[in-house]
Amino acid sequence: MKTVVITGASGGIGYQFAKQYKDKNFHVIGLVRKSTPELNNLDIEVIENFDVTKEDAIQKFKDVMAGRSIDLLINNAGIFKDNVIDNLDMDTVREQMETNAYGPLRLTIALRNNLKKGSTVAMITSRMGSIADNTSGSYYGYRMSKAALNMAAMSLSRDLVSQGVAIVVLHPGYVQTKMNRGKGDTKPENSVSGMIKQIENVKRDTPVQFKHYNGSELLW
Ligand SMILES: NC(=O)c1ccc[n+]([C@@H]2O[C@H](COP(=O)([O-])OP(=O)(O)OC[C@H]3O[C@@H](n4cnc5c(N)ncnc54)[C@H](OP(=O)(O)O)[C@@H]3O)[C@@H](O)[C@H]2O)c1
Repeated sequence: MKTVVITGASGGIGYQFAKQYKDKNFHVIGLVRKSTPELNNLDIEVIENFDVTKEDAIQKFKDVMAGRSIDLLINNAGIFKDNVIDNLDMDTVREQMETNAYGPLRLTIALRNNLKKGSTVAMITSRMGSIADNTSGSYYGYRMSKAALNMAAMSLSRDLVSQGVAIVVLHPGYVQTKMNRGKGDTKPENSVSGMIKQIENVKRDTPVQFKHYNGSELLW
């Protein structure tokens, strides 16, 4: 049985990943700050009190995983704050960097020995992290944190390719979740089934690809 680890599995896109991989008969490990009845009903391994910004939570999870292999790690947990140029709140910029960029990097490195030849790491980024695609400005912390995540993914793919580990960078679309108060033009189930296809078809050599959930390639 294959094992998938998903951060931010309590709702939105992360919950959908947990549900769809459970249906595909994976052993699903959902990392959450706090579980929900809906997640508990999936009958998966749920690990609570996991905050991706906390070094001790990552260390604790690393200990839980000692000796276990991971076929797929999905770095999905993320936050969005609406930063504009006037009165830019640097604390929220920092918070987004910690959660969206440093968290996935720390966790991936912590679990490095659990990844083996054929394993995949999926980074759930955003098109808003594309420098080439930034034609409207603003959103400093979110854009910067996702661009930093994309760069981390590129370095990780170069560093882990000899270990047989592939990385894929995925944009989920504009998805109806808590993050955008249910706005969006795509249902989580469609976004996630599209991203699962991209994970299944991941290119196992470098350079890493930046893919839309619909399969098209995006500009860095
Ligand atoms: N929705 C979109 O249109 C869209 C577009 C592009 C990219 N994305 C990306 O897709 C990913 C999933 O977002 P979503 O739309 O599903 O949003 P969501 O419904 O707000 O879910 C975000 C998840 O991340 C978790 N999380 C946040 N901070 C965390 C932390 N410090 N430690 C651990 N978990 C944390 C949340 O847990 P709690 O329940 O504890 O808060 C929640 O489970 C994010 O990386 C987001 O940037 C979303």
